[in-house]
Amino acid sequence: MGKAVNSSNSSSGLMGWIDARLPVTKAYKEHLSEYYAPNNFNFWYFFGSLSLLVLVNQLLTGVWLTMHYKPDAEQAFGLVEYIMRDVPWGWLIRYLHTTGASAFFIVIYMHMFRGLMYGSYKKPRELVWLLGMFIYLALMAEAFMGYVLPWGNMSFWGAKVITQLFGVIPYIGDGLLEWIRGDYNISDATLNRFFALHVVALPIVLLLLVVLHILALHTVGSNNPDGIEIKKNKDENGIPKDGIPFHPYYTVKDIFGVGIFLLLFMFIVFVKPDMGGLFLEHDNFNIADPGSTPEHIKPVWYFTPFFAILKVVPNPLWGMIAMFSAIIMLFVLPWLDRSEVKSIRYRLLPFKIALFSFVFSFIALGYLGMIGWGDTEKLVARILTGVYFAYFAFLFFYSKNEKHKPIPERLTH
Ligand code: HEM
Repeated sequence: MGKAVNSSNSSSGLMGWIDARLPVTKAYKEHLSEYYAPNNFNFWYFFGSLSLLVLVNQLLTGVWLTMHYKPDAEQAFGLVEYIMRDVPWGWLIRYLHTTGASAFFIVIYMHMFRGLMYGSYKKPRELVWLLGMFIYLALMAEAFMGYVLPWGNMSFWGAKVITQLFGVIPYIGDGLLEWIRGDYNISDATLNRFFALHVVALPIVLLLLVVLHILALHTVGSNNPDGIEIKKNKDENGIPKDGIPFHPYYTVKDIFGVGIFLLLFMFIVFVKPDMGGLFLEHDNFNIADPGSTPEHIKPVWYFTPFFAILKVVPNPLWGMIAMFSAIIMLFVLPWLDRSEVKSIRYRLLPFKIALFSFVFSFIALGYLGMIGWGDTEKLVARILTGVYFAYFAFLFFYSKNEKHKPIPERLTH
């Protein structure tokens, strides 16, 4: 019996005992030491592991914040002050969590941009991308609900405005709004349910999605800056000729990325945790007050591109449809881009201009979503919204018979 067990995973002793009961060595080989990744990963391939790092930071600091916080409308704001002033190292834990929220979106946006550049959403990685998009949705819900917990004035008014969106849906809107809030207005009941979702339900969903995301990726293998499938060129042992074991080669590379990231991250945590009102908004240093509306009600920066799209449409229902469509477009991207070439390296100028315009529109909309609007800003935001959606329409038609540069057989360096 023992012999048969050992021959399947070649480990003995304690590891052999465990392996016979739980395939730890097999999983280690499959996902690390014998996972062959393309040997040409560049800067843009840091952001997957950095997303994992920030996720762990959010989970750990979140647990410690929860030890000193109560989701009670009478106490929540004061308890956050108490964490900042009286709990030993409480300020550090809170700043790690608030800075982590913004850092999460920075690394995720870079991670998604890499996918757009190198066509990582395309066959055979459609499901990797789709799972990524579900992660992105869960992350948005997680961040939105977390933002309500300190019970500042922007927590209150932000939650009010965003939940109101659901109220504009015909027939079911009023009931749905009350169901989400648990009350007629944002109240203690809302705070309680948002806490339950933020601390328990959504983190479980996020973790599950991340595991599936990585399992799906390891089933089809990683893409790379050349967009060439390394599995098409294997040696006599079945190992991709352009592949290198993830561990130790990329674990070492990722540790270097983590070092640089942590330098920047800790600099913000220690020196400028509010980032001039970008990461922690000034209105949220005041307690929630239903009688005092902030001058510009707006979400945190990572939501403002979508918030701007919502605002450019005068009718609230259509505004909401436009905003959700902007996200849905990203979900269906793998089926909109019909070109046989993946990487931007081998695509021609029209694609490059289109991708650049798309990214520009997203960033500019993000900026406009943060400031108050006059007629000019509104007009510019409308044009930018057009550019955002035009990218997807362009890609659909252009990619059908897209011309491209010659694609090499093997990876380049
Ligand atoms: C908590 C959030 C996320 C985590 C922890 C995460 C983690 C990872 C990791 C570790 C990798 C492999 C390393 C790498 O390629 O950089 C990866 C690959 C990938 N991720 Fe994510 N990811 C997250 C969110 C997303 C989102 C929101 C999207 C897009 C909608 C996405 C799309 C992809 C794609 C397409 C790949 C394959 C890229 C390639 O092989 O070129 N991920 N992810």
